[in-house]
Parts: sequence; structure tokens; C-alpha cells
Amino acid sequence: MDRQIYLDNGATSWPKPREQFDKMVDLFMQIGVSPGRGSYDQAVSAQEYIRQAREKVAGFFGGPDPERVIFTANATDGLNLALLGTLAPGDHVVTTATEHNSVLRPLYHLQKTREISTSVVPFDGQGIIDPEDIKKTITPRTSLVAVNHASNVLGSVQPVAEIGEICAAHGIPLLVDASQSGGQIPVNMAKMQASALVFTGHKSLYGPTGIGGLLLGPDFTINSTRFGGTGLESKSLVHTQTFPHRLEAGTHNLMGIIGLSLAIDNLLQLGLERLHDKEINLAAKLYDGLDEISGIELYGGPITLHHVALFSANIPPMHPDDLGAILDADFNIAVRSGLHCAPLVHEILGTGGQGTIRFSLGRFNTEKEIDLVIKAMYRIARRN
Ligand SMILES: Cc1ncc(COP(=O)(O)O)c(C=O)c1O
Repeated sequence: MDRQIYLDNGATSWPKPREQFDKMVDLFMQIGVSPGRGSYDQAVSAQEYIRQAREKVAGFFGGPDPERVIFTANATDGLNLALLGTLAPGDHVVTTATEHNSVLRPLYHLQKTREISTSVVPFDGQGIIDPEDIKKTITPRTSLVAVNHASNVLGSVQPVAEIGEICAAHGIPLLVDASQSGGQIPVNMAKMQASALVFTGHKSLYGPTGIGGLLLGPDFTINSTRFGGTGLESKSLVHTQTFPHRLEAGTHNLMGIIGLSLAIDNLLQLGLERLHDKEINLAAKLYDGLDEISGIELYGGPITLHHVALFSANIPPMHPDDLGAILDADFNIAVRSGLHCAPLVHEILGTGGQGTIRFSLGRFNTEKEIDLVIKAMYRIARRN
């Protein structure tokens, strides 16, 4: 069978850039000791590397302060930290139907344990939230607005700057989940007027798994949610309160931080806009090609430059899991099937029972691959 066509970059980007990862291992072999805990050369170098990585991440995402770049295990970890660290009993949160379970589940947990309340704003036929709906949903008790920047089911990108404007006018912090947008389209915390932003390293940034981050603005009040060693104030039983240590405990994921830092360098060198243009053109070619085949339902298009390079599809009445399995077994095409951890999107799409398959493109996909995927889908639709 032909080489695999990987279209599951929305889950994690693949393949990873070999040279970048070789460099990551080389660097780790030089400085891979416990950062910030010793005064020998390598420990100081490791600490300095982390400091510079915070600066790089803050620069890349328009964060106001490198000291307020918190390294986390992934986006889920960052979102848990942001939500559990800030919400108190009686708080009200406005969020959207495009959210991933990494926002919906912590919020549900807090509804049960801290008696917070949540309002969910719907999206339109293009997968876009109307900022006016957010404005109308704000109450005097609203203490946070949490918005997914780019949908991991539809690829639609939310008007976060307009939402940020509304939040700023009401004095309410905006938390942005940039898991799908980070590394694919420009993400700038300052331009969005976001008070907190979460990203993950292993998707469009092409870093390793196990690393992500939470960037905080000066107005975002947040408490520690985990406690332990920081290498600072070790006599005290109270966890270090200065940033970033307030929200980080234990030995850092230095390999991940090196990988993330090199990934940002690589991305900047290749050019984010150039990569996005290429990916979005391929996504549009795939969408338009599939749109011409009868029996295929598409969700999330038409694909424009104001999208991330992913969308969903079905060949009813076939179950998306079966469609995904056939694409894999008969055509060596890797896609994700099911609800994509975003159940409310499917409620609105009417695909809540089974979900969809998702095509998510990456920097290594080619025109030829897209032609093969269109052909494969045509053959399956005809058989159906
Ligand atoms: C929109 C969105 N938010 C959050 C996440 C969680 O990311 P991670 O797996 O890095 O925690 C994902 C991953 O699929 C996502 O698509």
C-alpha cells in the first residue's frame, strides 16, 4: 500500500521535523539537569535556557510578561490551572458551544464543587460566535469569559479581538484557548485584550508532546493549584507566591521546553504565514473537491484564509468510526473520527450521536495526497 497520508494534525502534528528533534536531544544531552536547583554550570545553563524560553513564548504570543509564562504539560493542564486557580463560589462564566472538553469538564466540575454557574453561547452556520451574544450573556456575577480561538471540529476562527473589547469594557478577564490556532495563525494576547491564553506545543507548533503553557496578564488573579518544590524559599511551608513559580512546582519538563523553543525558532524561520497559506490552500482544495461528490456532508466550510486548516465530514448513514476505519484500512489515510472532545459542537450540527470524521492538515501534506483523499472519498461514497 502507498505511504500513509496523515490528516490528523489537529490531534497532534505528524511527522515532526527530524532536524529540530535531533537538535532537541543534543541540547538536552548538554544541559539536561535539574534547572534552578544548583549552582554548577549546567544547572545555571538549564535555568537560563528556561528563562529565555519564557521570553520567546511571550514574544511569540504577544504576552505582556515572560515571568507570567507558565509551563504546563499541555493545553488541558493549562486550562485546568486557569479555571481551577481563579474561579470562586458564586462566580458566573460565559463560554461557547465550540469549547473542547478541556474547558467544559473543568467548568462542570466547578459547577458541582464550587457552585459556579456557566452560560454557553451558540455559534452560527459558519461556526462563528456573535460577540453581541457574549455581551448579552454577561451578568454582574460574570467573572470570566472563556473562548476557544479556533474550533477543532469546524476550523472556524472566533472574533476574539471584538470579544476582548467587550470583556475589557466590562472589566471581565478573557481566557483564550489557542490550542488549534497557536502556530497556525497569528495569536497575539495584547491584540485580543486577553487576560489569559493557553497553548499546546504538539499541534501546529510542531513541538513534542508533554509541553504547553499558560500566559497571564497582570490583571489575572490566580492562586496556586499545586504545591511543592520550586528551589526558592525552601524553609517556608507556604508555596512560593512569585510568578512563575506560584503556578509551577517540581522539576521542569526541560526536554519539552527545549523542544518547544526550537519549534518556535523553526516556525519563525519557515514563516507562519507562508505555512498557513499552503495548508489552507490544500484544505480548501480538499473541501471543494469533496463538496462536488454527492453523498458527502461537510461541516466547517467554505475554507477561507480566516480558518485553520481543518474541517469535518460524513457519508451518511455510515458511522464516522467506520468511515475512518475504511480510510485507514483500504486507503492508508489517517483521520480522526467521533466527537473530537467537543460534544456541544455536535449538538448544534446535529451530529451529536456519532460525530464526524475530521480532516486536519499539516505542513507536510501535498497536493498529490489531497487528490488521493478526494478519490478515496469518492469511491467510498459510491459504494455506500
Ligand atoms: C480546542 C482544543 N482545546 C484543547 C485541546 C487539548 O489539548 P492538549 O491535548 O494539548 O491538552 C485540544 C486538543 O485537541 C483542542 O483542540
